[in-house]
Amino acid sequence: MEERARWRRRADFIFAAVGAAIGLGNVWRFPYIAFKYGGGAFLIPYFVALLTAGIPLLILEFGLGRMMQAGAPAAFAKVRKNFEWIGWLSLFAVMLIFFYYTVIMAWCWNYVVFSAGFAPKLEVAQETGHLKYVWSSVNIREWAARSEQFFKHDFLRLTSGPGHLGHILWYVVIGLAISWLWSFFYVRHGPVSIGKEIYFTVIIPWIILVILVIRGLTLPGAIKGLNYYLTPNFAALKNPETWLAAYGQIFFTLSLAMGTQIVYSSYLERRTDVNNNAIVTALANCGTSFFAGFAVFSVLGFAAQALGVSVPEVTKGGLHLAFITYPRIISMLPAAAVIGVLFFILLVTLAIDSQISQVEPFMCGFMDKWRIDRKKILPIVVVCGFLVGLIFATRGGYYWVDIIDHVTCDFGLTLVGILEAIAIGWFFGAPRWAGLTGIGVIVLIIIMSFVLMKLKGREE
Ligand code: PFF
Repeated sequence: MEERARWRRRADFIFAAVGAAIGLGNVWRFPYIAFKYGGGAFLIPYFVALLTAGIPLLILEFGLGRMMQAGAPAAFAKVRKNFEWIGWLSLFAVMLIFFYYTVIMAWCWNYVVFSAGFAPKLEVAQETGHLKYVWSSVNIREWAARSEQFFKHDFLRLTSGPGHLGHILWYVVIGLAISWLWSFFYVRHGPVSIGKEIYFTVIIPWIILVILVIRGLTLPGAIKGLNYYLTPNFAALKNPETWLAAYGQIFFTLSLAMGTQIVYSSYLERRTDVNNNAIVTALANCGTSFFAGFAVFSVLGFAAQALGVSVPEVTKGGLHLAFITYPRIISMLPAAAVIGVLFFILLVTLAIDSQISQVEPFMCGFMDKWRIDRKKILPIVVVCGFLVGLIFATRGGYYWVDIIDHVTCDFGLTLVGILEAIAIGWFFGAPRWAGLTGIGVIVLIIIMSFVLMKLKGREE
């Protein structure tokens, strides 16, 4: 039997696990979820979720991967033959994520170009007299001043709803192809052979983030945003949706319940310590989210002061924050083009190692089960990922990104997390962390039932 690949040193594994965890979720998803659930109010459930579910489950996944030396389905099958489906379910969740994650990366590539000063602009066609979009040099201040209109109409050409997909946007397809090709070349020999590049794509975003935080904090009004970010609003804690969102975000951000951390730790030697590695990974990741919050909320405070409104009135959150609000505010600053380019390069460099970490568990699942060669399976996964991603690259794709993100993160991942904890903690016996994981699971089940009851009440 072929020998299992091995990380060359501990640092390679930590960088890969941290790279998988730190991604769009830290700079795009965390601030908008925190914003949606009352800023400072969100930090409490977030840290509770980190302690009761995040760290224990990360230790559990690292321990499982290292012990079983296999990807998620085979690892669960080794726990109990009839648990294999839990592993496949997690791969199904990660598959849904990589379909749309790469499309958000594609939007970011486009926004790098727009920030540099080249974007679609509505003009009258000379031949027909009809209005049409022409790509030309457009200063960031010009398009970002009307960023919502630009994002929804000029860029995404949104249809009326998710039921109308409309045609495919060629420039999103180019971004999608770049993302998939990049990840193909990055992991064609497996994640353990990536080497130095992984340091590059973990460290570069951090340097950019530091620059953006310093820029944000030196803006007038920054303190207004930070107050919103850091002042807890205890009333929001009564809302079970806040808790569910916090658990969902912890799963998403630590790349839990998706087979990623299991497969990465399956390339560890059996003797390696996992507890310390898990704590370092979790703290590095959540520390990055917390730090990124300073870059985003300081800038929101600046905008609130400049526009004479309160912080929650500055943005609608969601995808708005990265693609509408942030560009608009950036355009109000000196050297707007440089900051815009830096911000979107930050997003793509953050995203790339997360994306490869979504593809690896998927491939490893097939490689373990059917002994297929990496060289054969990788091109198939890349081409299928790209082709299915085209659905999200249509004019109605935006709606589907939002829907799938919400359903997978808030329900799918939490459900798989609960199943994992029960399967390992209960049936297999995970003595040390079982208590905390157990508490996390019970809290989660209660929250999920509350939210489901609330949703049911709304339908009636
Ligand atoms: N943790 C990544 C982020 O926060 O952007 C997202 C992610 C990576 C999701 C790996 C799923 C995954 F398997």
